[in-house]
Amino acid sequence: MTNKATILIIDDEEGIRDSCSQVLTREGYHANIADNGKAGWEHFKKSPPDIVLLDLKLPGLDGIQVLNKIKKRSFDTPVIIITGFATIGSAVNTMKQGAFDYLAKPFSPQELRVAVKKALDSRKTQEQSLTPSLKTARADDFAMVVGKSRSMAKVLDIVKRVSPTESTVLITGESGTGKELLATEIHNHSPRKNAPLVVVDCGALVETLFESELFGHVKGSFTGANMTKHGRFEVADGGTIFLDEISNISLNIQAKLLRAIQEREVTRIGNTKPISVDIRILAATHENLPDCVRKGKFREDLFYRLSVVPIHIPPLRERKEDIPLLINHFLLKHSKKLGKNFNKPSEKAIKAMLEYEWPGNIRELENTVERAIVLCQKDRIELEDLFYHGISSSPSFLQTAGKNHKSLKEIEKEYIKIVLQSQYGNRTKTAKILGIDRKTLLAKIKKYNLS
Ligand SMILES: Nc1ncnc2c1ncn2[C@@H]1O[C@H](COP(=O)(O)OP(=O)(O)OP(=O)(O)O)[C@@H](O)[C@H]1O
Ligand SMILES: [Mg+2]
Repeated sequence: MTNKATILIIDDEEGIRDSCSQVLTREGYHANIADNGKAGWEHFKKSPPDIVLLDLKLPGLDGIQVLNKIKKRSFDTPVIIITGFATIGSAVNTMKQGAFDYLAKPFSPQELRVAVKKALDSRKTQEQSLTPSLKTARADDFAMVVGKSRSMAKVLDIVKRVSPTESTVLITGESGTGKELLATEIHNHSPRKNAPLVVVDCGALVETLFESELFGHVKGSFTGANMTKHGRFEVADGGTIFLDEISNISLNIQAKLLRAIQEREVTRIGNTKPISVDIRILAATHENLPDCVRKGKFREDLFYRLSVVPIHIPPLRERKEDIPLLINHFLLKHSKKLGKNFNKPSEKAIKAMLEYEWPGNIRELENTVERAIVLCQKDRIELEDLFYHGISSSPSFLQTAGKNHKSLKEIEKEYIKIVLQSQYGNRTKTAKILGIDRKTLLAKIKKYNLS
């Protein structure tokens, strides 16, 4: 396939079309071009290419829509997104929706050749691995979610049963327990797996922008709305939408969301005509939603709509028997990335990790293992490699040389520093771990000159 492969280039900029097609033809590929989304899609249907190069910003049918159509029809065709600087964020998001890779303009002929080669290689491996056993293997393969404890086995059992259905699922659990990972698993084991999984972080945007992000807007509907925008619900059409941190949305948007969920219809801002969407809904929160309902911060009707099937992921400290498995999993994952080989951590290191309470749950454990691997000089993680994290039963900052004991102030300063580092400078999380409020923490950071 390699050198005779056909590549479809969809871009409205003539310069890009021409230069890409020249570079690729010189490599021996066959290049076809289209200058807008609709023409590109027509071309795709008529003669399916091996790879698509797709501009995000296109007149008419835009890049995301074309991507979704392509993924629905032929999930295995790699699509490489071409993007300008302004849309890099959306390009990164398209990877979640099935894009294979993206190229940021301006890119060199070499970058283009490498991306195309990678995409073609991926097709070959896919074809080779498409054995009949694949289907059965997938159906039972929740291997990405590691956990053998009784509580996790229960969670995975519900996940297995609910994945193939259309039910709305509400995933709850503390920060870092794996809510997003579970949502991804549910989608990947559902009949919608070849359509997009669209993740919406409900805490990330101010209200007006968020509404437009969810439901879209028409051109001119508010200042700054220069173009018509498709909301995430539309983008997720045919697939799954994952509403993460759902407790963060305002009551006003909750009302609109409720409508969208009940009617499976959305209305773009500035428009009156609703658009129907075919989606499955997953949601997650680290907060106690019934509590939010009692406090009047969350609509009760919306809560019931969302928690058709509730799944609670227990915190890591309540299922410590999963820790060794997870350590192993992350050791493999990250040492492979670094091209290093690691042995099992030392007994002492494992014991320290088993004793620690993991307020940041699995994410914190993963970060700890990753950092230990990076910092570790040998081929085995020792207790010392965890010291910086404050995990050890006798942390380095408590160790005293001779009779030079430290004052409480010094210890406080060093401990705050350690926790801050372990949370990558996140003050809210650090304050939570230290059991003080944010303001007090900020005052201490200032006092000790830690920023
Ligand atoms: N059971 C698990 N097995 C393997 N990896 C896991 C597991 N649970 C979580 N992880 C990993 O831990 C990290 C955090 O998981 P994820 O982002 O899904 O958590 P979250 O609950 O959504 O966190 P937050 O509330 O902070 O958004 C990810 O890298 C994820 O892959
Ligand atoms: Mg999350």
